Amino acid sequence: MNIVMLGAPGAGKGTISAQMEERYNIPHISSGDIFRENIKNGTALGVKVKKYIENGELVPDDLTIDLVIDTLNKCQSGFILDGFPRTSKQADGLDSALQKNNSKIDLVILVEAEENDLVDRLSGRRVCEKCGATYHTKNLPPKKDGVCDKCGNMLIQRKDDTKEVILDRLKTYNDQTKPLIDYYNKKNLIKKVPGFTDSQDERLKMIDAFVKGAV
Ligand code: AP5
Repeated sequence: MNIVMLGAPGAGKGTISAQMEERYNIPHISSGDIFRENIKNGTALGVKVKKYIENGELVPDDLTIDLVIDTLNKCQSGFILDGFPRTSKQADGLDSALQKNNSKIDLVILVEAEENDLVDRLSGRRVCEKCGATYHTKNLPPKKDGVCDKCGNMLIQRKDDTKEVILDRLKTYNDQTKPLIDYYNKKNLIKKVPGFTDSQDERLKMIDAFVKGAV
């Protein structure tokens, strides 16, 4: 099963993808995580992409497409793709790479959220650099302040989670990524889920039905 997660920065794509990975045993591939790992490890790619990420701009397509497709080619049992594609060139690149392998996207989950709520969500986000777990200072706090529940590592704030950069990321999303909703709608692949919900269980049940329908 090949699933694409679409939605604005902070809508909850990463949080939902992690839940789906555990539930369906399909790997969660996040382009943002791949870039951040490279920055953390000081690789040549990390050095090249750092300035784009810290300024809330998209990393150029020529540094992104082959990298993500190479990762997907290693996924034998499908993928939950979070943060890619983000431009029409990336969407075309993904379609042609899948076609070459006689494969296709089965489902696109659009995580919907009001733009006004996203700044709050992202500025309160704290992440574990070691295991990738995500928290929120008010809405989803760890048991012990600043410490990851899962692995005990210290939590950090992402450099692109400051108000100024968040606003730039939202503009980039509206200009370059939102048009992909139309692209996937025309292919009849989009199913919508709420990014903000009182019941994550209900949301997972909705996703269960979408996954079942797409098999
Ligand atoms: P990326 O890492 O993909 O970030 P993003 O799309 O901006 O999305 P986020 O990770 O910020 O948000 P999310 O929707 O996953 O929300 P989350 O679940 O964490 O990209 C970062 C950068 O990398 C880009 O700006 C770009 O520079 C570059 N990049 C990446 N891919 C690229 C590509 N394809 N092309 C070019 N450049 C690329 O949730 C947010 C917060 O809400 C968290 O604090 C969470 O705890 C909280 N929350 C979530 N769900 C709940 C809930 N149910 N209740 C309470 N709180 C909740």
